[in-house]
Amino acid sequence: MSAPLRSNEPMVVQVALGARAYDIVIGRGLIASLGARIKTLRQGAKCAIVTDAAVAKLHLPAAEAALKASGIDCTPIVVPQGEASKSFATFETVCEAIIAARIERSDLIVALGGGVIGDLAGYAAASVRRGLDFVQVPTTLLAQVDSSVGGKTGINSHHGKNLIGAFHQPILVVADTALLDTLPAREFRAGYAEVAKYGLLGDAAFFSWLEANWKEIFAGGAAREHAIAVCCRGKAGIVARDERETGERALLNLGHTFGHALEAGAGFSQRLLHGEAVALGMTLAFEFSARKGLIGEADATRARAHLAAVGLPTHLKDVPGGVPGLDALMELIAQDKKVKRGKLTFILVRSIGQAFVENDVGAAEVRAFLADKLSRL
Ligand SMILES: NC(=O)c1ccc[n+]([C@@H]2O[C@H](COP(=O)([O-])OP(=O)(O)OC[C@H]3O[C@@H](n4cnc5c(N)ncnc54)[C@H](O)[C@@H]3O)[C@@H](O)[C@H]2O)c1
Ligand SMILES: [Zn+2]
Repeated sequence: MSAPLRSNEPMVVQVALGARAYDIVIGRGLIASLGARIKTLRQGAKCAIVTDAAVAKLHLPAAEAALKASGIDCTPIVVPQGEASKSFATFETVCEAIIAARIERSDLIVALGGGVIGDLAGYAAASVRRGLDFVQVPTTLLAQVDSSVGGKTGINSHHGKNLIGAFHQPILVVADTALLDTLPAREFRAGYAEVAKYGLLGDAAFFSWLEANWKEIFAGGAAREHAIAVCCRGKAGIVARDERETGERALLNLGHTFGHALEAGAGFSQRLLHGEAVALGMTLAFEFSARKGLIGEADATRARAHLAAVGLPTHLKDVPGGVPGLDALMELIAQDKKVKRGKLTFILVRSIGQAFVENDVGAAEVRAFLADKLSRL
């Protein structure tokens, strides 16, 4: 697989969901076309742009200018940056601000930001006036390859992450890859874990291509657009076949059961970003698959080597401040996924690029595996 030569034409990936189908448009500098694209879809609509304080400083002026150039009225709604904004309190603020801006059923919400903003603004769009249309303008790598596509929206509960929410598909996703130039290197790297995930779970050729081309993705060359398009195509296909996650969509959780436990253990803090936890979680999922005899050690080593090469954590000792003990980790894993009669659901692999859902993993074998890992710390 090779990257296409740079062209000025944006790439378009379609999410085939019948009456709710939409385009993901990917390209450098696309934010300038935001107004024109919205006008084509919803002539006469006005917008509320939901964003966070950090993104507002960097990219809100360009988004507002693009809308104004097309004669679209817009009201900015700026919330604090960070996961804490996926709360009832901020959700209330955003909903009230949307209503105060007189956004009606024929108008639009624009989510300008990372996954936090996409989830929060998307859920507000799903809720205000029983459902407003919304457009995703993802500004992190994680959001461009994952959270802006597929219609999962929501906020956090005191009991856990993303427990309150709705499926609400956007009507358009505009992924301007130049917006990622301002992203802190650590955030970019964390988002890259989700890029690698698409190769590891379903596309061995893409994973090989990533091994050869990852530096150009980080540098912002044409490989960046290509990689984002491949990921979006992968996710769009899965979402179109299984929108509500009754089956195949669960594959996107590769590395997430172990990852969420580690992320929760670090208190969802800057100590361990989501993508970093996913890199560790995928490494563990590959090692666990090797331990079960599903893959050879060489595949597990290769998966780890690539994640480590880009600078992602792949050893439990890489987590600053350490990881929870065995009992606490098992408790967190049991909370994340339902345990039925001692059996857990995990995404395991048959090879690089071939993940599958295994509903019959014994809690005891996970415990033995983790005990082994922890004893080597
Ligand atoms: N809905 C889904 O399907 C789905 C999938 C995966 C993750 N998520 C959710 O996504 C969230 C994580 O998303 P995230 O990693 O994008 O986090 P985020 O939205 O918090 O963004 C990370 C940080 O980067 C900053 N930032 C964003 N864009 C920037 C830019 N262009 N330049 C400089 N700084 C920028 C933000 O202000 C923030 O501080 C989690 O809440 C997770 O639950 C949702
Ligand atoms: Zn993830």
